[in-house]
Amino acid sequence: MIRLGIITISDRASSGVYDDKSGPAIQSVFTRWIATPWQAEYRLVPDEQPLIEAAIRELADVHQCPLIVTTGGTGPAPRDITPEATMAVCDRLLPGFGEQMRAVSVRTVPTAILSRQVAGTRGRSLIINLPGKPAAIEECLGAVWAAVPYCIDLIGGPRLTFSAEAPAPFRPVSA
Ligand code: MTE
Repeated sequence: MIRLGIITISDRASSGVYDDKSGPAIQSVFTRWIATPWQAEYRLVPDEQPLIEAAIRELADVHQCPLIVTTGGTGPAPRDITPEATMAVCDRLLPGFGEQMRAVSVRTVPTAILSRQVAGTRGRSLIINLPGKPAAIEECLGAVWAAVPYCIDLIGGPRLTFSAEAPAPFRPVSA
């Protein structure tokens, strides 16, 4: 069965100060949008670059997740290190994802420009950063979702199918 990676990056959620709401929000979006049977590989890690890198590497290299979504640690606060960790483990970056997510989010929240979220590929895995706010999850995933299936096709991942509720995937006619 296909495994999908969900990584929550938060000092406070990982130390039990509060419950993680963003990881479950990603799980809920995947459940509503993805028709192909899948299983979550969920990790909850503090804002420590080596631990974030290790979690992404494990989900990509060991579990072969075609899609890995992170939440949290994208802002400008001193402990926010998710984009650096993501860039360190990606083979290639896909700047359009961050640009599009910020462009859509800034329509509802002016502080969306504070998110340094990035996306990229590591082998056959597409990795996408989302901000740590539960409300940002569906908004940001929705902003880029149409391009996610074709990206996974191009990097040699499985051909996923989606529910009618998901933003319609776009594949060029030749694909
Ligand atoms: N994007 C969306 N769609 N919704 C939001 O509420 N919050 C912003 C921004 N992007 C937000 C958003 C805020 S306030 C910050 S500080 C940055 O994401 C970084 O959040 P993070 O450090 O929790 O990742």
